Amino acid sequence: MGFSWVNIIALAQFENRKMLYKNPNAPIEKRIADLMKRMTIEEKVGQLNQLNAGTLTGPAAPLGNKAPVMQEIRDGKVGSYLNLEGAAYTLKHQKVAVEESRLGIPLLFAKDVIHGYKTIFPIPLAEACSWDLKAIEQNASVASAEATAAGLHWTFAPMCDISTDPRWGRVMEGAGEDPYLGGLIGAARVRGFQGDLSDGKHLMACVKHFAAYGAVEAGKEYGHVDVSRFALWNKYLPPYKAAIEAGAATIMNSFNVFEGVPSTANVYLNKTILKDKFKFKGFAISDWDTYTEMINHGYAANNQDALAKAINGGGMMEMNSSISIQYLPQLIKEGKVSIKVLDEAVKRILYYKFKLGLFDNSYRYSNEAREKSESLSASNRAIARKAACSSMVLLKNEKELLPLKTNTKVALIGYYAKSKADMFDFWVAKGDYNQAVSMFEGLSAKFPNLKYSEGYSSDATTTDSLINAALEVAKNADVLLVNIGLSGNKAGEDRSLANIKIPLGQQRLLTELRKTGKPIVALVSSGRPMVLTQITGLADAILQCWIPGTETGNALADVLTGAYNPSAKTVMSFPVDEGQIPVYYNYFNTGRPTSADGSGNWFARYRDIPNEALFPFGYGLSYTTFAYSDLKTDKTTFSKSDIVNVNITVKNTGKYDGGEVVQLYIRDLAASYIRPVKELKAFEKVALKVGEEKQVRFALTANDFSFYDMDGNTLLESGDFEIYVGGSSSNVSKFDLKLIK
Ligand code: BGC
Repeated sequence: MGFSWVNIIALAQFENRKMLYKNPNAPIEKRIADLMKRMTIEEKVGQLNQLNAGTLTGPAAPLGNKAPVMQEIRDGKVGSYLNLEGAAYTLKHQKVAVEESRLGIPLLFAKDVIHGYKTIFPIPLAEACSWDLKAIEQNASVASAEATAAGLHWTFAPMCDISTDPRWGRVMEGAGEDPYLGGLIGAARVRGFQGDLSDGKHLMACVKHFAAYGAVEAGKEYGHVDVSRFALWNKYLPPYKAAIEAGAATIMNSFNVFEGVPSTANVYLNKTILKDKFKFKGFAISDWDTYTEMINHGYAANNQDALAKAINGGGMMEMNSSISIQYLPQLIKEGKVSIKVLDEAVKRILYYKFKLGLFDNSYRYSNEAREKSESLSASNRAIARKAACSSMVLLKNEKELLPLKTNTKVALIGYYAKSKADMFDFWVAKGDYNQAVSMFEGLSAKFPNLKYSEGYSSDATTTDSLINAALEVAKNADVLLVNIGLSGNKAGEDRSLANIKIPLGQQRLLTELRKTGKPIVALVSSGRPMVLTQITGLADAILQCWIPGTETGNALADVLTGAYNPSAKTVMSFPVDEGQIPVYYNYFNTGRPTSADGSGNWFARYRDIPNEALFPFGYGLSYTTFAYSDLKTDKTTFSKSDIVNVNITVKNTGKYDGGEVVQLYIRDLAASYIRPVKELKAFEKVALKVGEEKQVRFALTANDFSFYDMDGNTLLESGDFEIYVGGSSSNVSKFDLKLIK
């Protein structure tokens, strides 16, 4: 009897069953152990190698940016690709890994899915201004669904870097200046991206950039960082910690140093904190070339030295630079890196390959049918539209200029309002601005009498003729809507700016339009809080639109017409001037704090500008008004095991139904380390109909009154506290509370 195909397949199946790691019913740990036994050192090192296969999101590798080489996949020399995407394209490469490599270990496909994949949501900074954790979670899961259909397993988000410097182009990617809110939002995004990672429609999140990357000096991208452990623990770490506690599968090192040692090789960050204190069980990835960049830092002499330091300092997967694959086997032979360290990293990476189901159903993520039906679907766009509405912050609304009736004769002025090429920022994954709704399109659809004029050109400069044309259009209008700010291209990585004032050409335009006496609404487009000082007096209303994504124009129309009543509150303070940066609400009093009315001499201040932000953290208007009353607690002294209930009544006293973010702050008056003048500890977003009032209750526990010492120990100290509640960090009522032992 000769061999038939049936016999051959049966034999292969029998062989497979013997390979425990291929048995879907075996526990993951056992499968990993079985697979590890079969892997050569070279194959293990291959798992640490992540190559770029698409758009450059950093400098090209020394050998140039190369298309995937199938033989490298066959040889098990690659564990993951970034920027290799699309259902068909990922499938093609996954097949080679699974069917043609010796052990059939699947690849991980990764990409920066920062605020949507095809359907682009508002930038994360804007989304955070909604203070709507459920919606933020949902937005992330929409992005996951679209990205996984295109074969992706992993996003490099959320960015959990706290920053108080709007010159830094990447503030657009984070959740603003507050550690507590940043943590809640980071965790919500992790939950939204990941789900439980079992349904093929969610992807792994990556908490980045660990740690304190938001503290780059003078907001300069890739710049130096010098923060104390006190600041690290109390200001920078809480959002990463919260996102890790929400189950983030991966973490990314930062480009910067901490205490003089690059994060990539920093044992305090990667072992003491991440592994020992945070009990992080996922795997770490370097940022783009951070291993080899340690040579530029002056921390490593050459590639081998850099690699040994990175791996011994907690490094696991290496993005782009590929020195692990070149030198790690040799370093292991020489005893410079122990095999135990390599094994630990490989096990963690393999765990997630199993967890995502890639060994059992390797092609589930590359789903052409789903890619077609779900990408940019009407329902995804509707969710993005709502997200955009709830992210726009109303900064000023004199004489209740807004909302506008749809029969208002509006003039829309501003080059960026019509230019789709300027709508999106750098981090838009596969978002296509041609499929987005510009301000012009969205507003034209709602205001039939709209007339448009450019007012300035693509570089935000203007000319007499552009101004005259704008004045001409303004003549017949009742209200002027002027889109100012920056092109979307100016937001994101490698987009730091020293000057963040409204461009001079736009200032001149506004000055000329102001002379017409017509009411002006400034629509500010930007991925950061800009210096608006020069234009606040030139506009009757100011709407901070940020970069709202695919549904920009529709959402703007909803907000301007009152179909959506603004309820966003800024999560980053707007500086009066660049010279005031960093400016943030949770600052520390010095020995010479500002006198209450700002008068007198010899205290911490500038002589030419105020200390306070132009628009502080937590600030944002609505078309209606809210009154706060009856701030009460159920106790004025409490002990560590008590819950303190804080109640406040909020009433809608205006003419429109609306939403308000009720914010609670505390201040610890004397402690073993100084504490900020205010710290956000709780908030609730309430919806109130005209005339309606609600009692909002916050239940504070001991945890809310604690903070960290230099070593990350939690301190809870008795003493006096102040509690503040209100609709912004600067507009609050207060009472006193005592914590007893
Ligand atoms: C950025 C990361 C990003 C990576 C991959 C780096 O330059 O700092 O945030 O995830 O590139 O695109």
